[in-house]
Amino acid sequence: MRRYYRGYDPQRILSVAEMAYVARHRLPGFAWEYLQGGAEDESTLQCNRSAFQQYRLHSKTLVPNDPPILAGSLVGSASQLPLAIGPSGFNGMLWPNADVELARAATAHGVPFTLSTVANASLEQVRQQVPDADLWFQLYALKDPSLEQDLLQRALKAGCSTLVVTSDALVVGNREWDRRNFASPRQLTLANKLNVLTRPGWLWRVMVPAGLPTMGNLNAYLPDGERTALGAMQFIAEQLDTRLDWQRLAAIRANWPGKMILKGVLHPDDARMAISLGLDGVVVSNHGGRQLDGASSSLDALARIAPVVDGRISLLLDGGVRRGTDIIKALALGAEGVLLARTTLYGVAAYGGAGVDRVLTIVQEELGRSLNLMGCRGITSLDRRWLLAQGDSQ
Ligand code: GLV
Repeated sequence: MRRYYRGYDPQRILSVAEMAYVARHRLPGFAWEYLQGGAEDESTLQCNRSAFQQYRLHSKTLVPNDPPILAGSLVGSASQLPLAIGPSGFNGMLWPNADVELARAATAHGVPFTLSTVANASLEQVRQQVPDADLWFQLYALKDPSLEQDLLQRALKAGCSTLVVTSDALVVGNREWDRRNFASPRQLTLANKLNVLTRPGWLWRVMVPAGLPTMGNLNAYLPDGERTALGAMQFIAEQLDTRLDWQRLAAIRANWPGKMILKGVLHPDDARMAISLGLDGVVVSNHGGRQLDGASSSLDALARIAPVVDGRISLLLDGGVRRGTDIIKALALGAEGVLLARTTLYGVAAYGGAGVDRVLTIVQEELGRSLNLMGCRGITSLDRRWLLAQGDSQ
C-alpha cells in the first residue's frame, strides 16, 4: 500500500497522485466530487487515464544525458513546457483567489494560463495581478451578441493572446454526484452540510472571508443584487448559446483578431472543418469525461486525428494527463502540447499557489528525466517511432 504525505510542506509531495490525495483531504466531499467526478458511469473519465497504458516507450541506450529540450512553440507562441493550464470554472471554491494563483504559477513556469468564462476572477483582475501572464480566454458562446462582443473586447483589452472556444458543453453532462449532493440548486443536502464541518481549514480559508465566490467575468452583466454565484449560474443557463454551430464559429473567428482554437474535438472530420475555418488549433478533448460518457478517450481520438491534421494547425490534448510520460506519449502521437486542469487544480486545492508551483515542477522534472532515460534529445524529436503499442513489431 502506498503511503502518502499529508502535511503542510508542498515540497514533500512527489507526484500528482499524491497531490490529489492531499486535495481530497482538504476539501469537503461536494467540492472534491465536483473536481474529481465525471459523467454517469465515468467510463470516459477512466479511459482517459487507461489509454496512456496502451503505449510503452522506446528507449535508446548510451545517449549522453544533456538536459533535454522542453521548450517550444505552443499555438504559435513560445512556451517553456509543452503545456498550458486549461480552463475550469469555480476554482475559487477550492482556494481563495485560485484563478490568480494558477495564473501566477503558470507564468513563473513560462506557460500559458487559460481563464474560463465562468471563472471567479475576472479578466481584468487576473491581468492586473499577473501582468506578465500569457493569458488565454475560454469562451462559452452567448446568445446575446452584444454581451459576447463585450466579453471578447474585454479579453482583447486584457491582452489575451488566444481564444479557446468550448464546443462540447452545449448540454450539461449527467453528473450524478452533483445532483446527489445538492437538495436544490446550490443548496447542499444536510449530509453534505455536516460533511463541510469536517473541513474547518477549508471553511476558514474559503467560506469565512467572502462566502461562495462570484463569477468575475459575468458580474458586469448581472443586475444589482444578483451578483452572486447563483445569479451567475442562472445567467449562464439562460445565456449559453446552445445553437452554436460552424457558421457561428466562423463569425466568432472573423470577430477575434488573435489566435483561436476549438476545444472539444474528437472526430477527424471536425478537425478538418477547424482547418478550413482558419482556426489556429484544436484541443482534442472530451471535457475531462464530464460530458458524454462513452466518448472516446482523448488519446485514442488524438491518434485518429493527428494524421488528418498532419501538422497544418496546432493539436493539443486534454484529459487524464498526470505524469511527464503521459505528455511524452501525447506528443509522440502528434500533439504539440497538453492542457492540464484537474492536475493543477489538485495543487491549488491542497496548497494554493505553492501547490500549483509544485505540480508544475513535478511534471517538468518527470518530463526531463523520462526523455533522458529514453535517450531522446527533446520534445521536438518525439514522434510515433518512440512508442510501442500492442501488435507493433519494432
Ligand atoms: C464545466 O465546464 C465543468 O466541467 O464543470
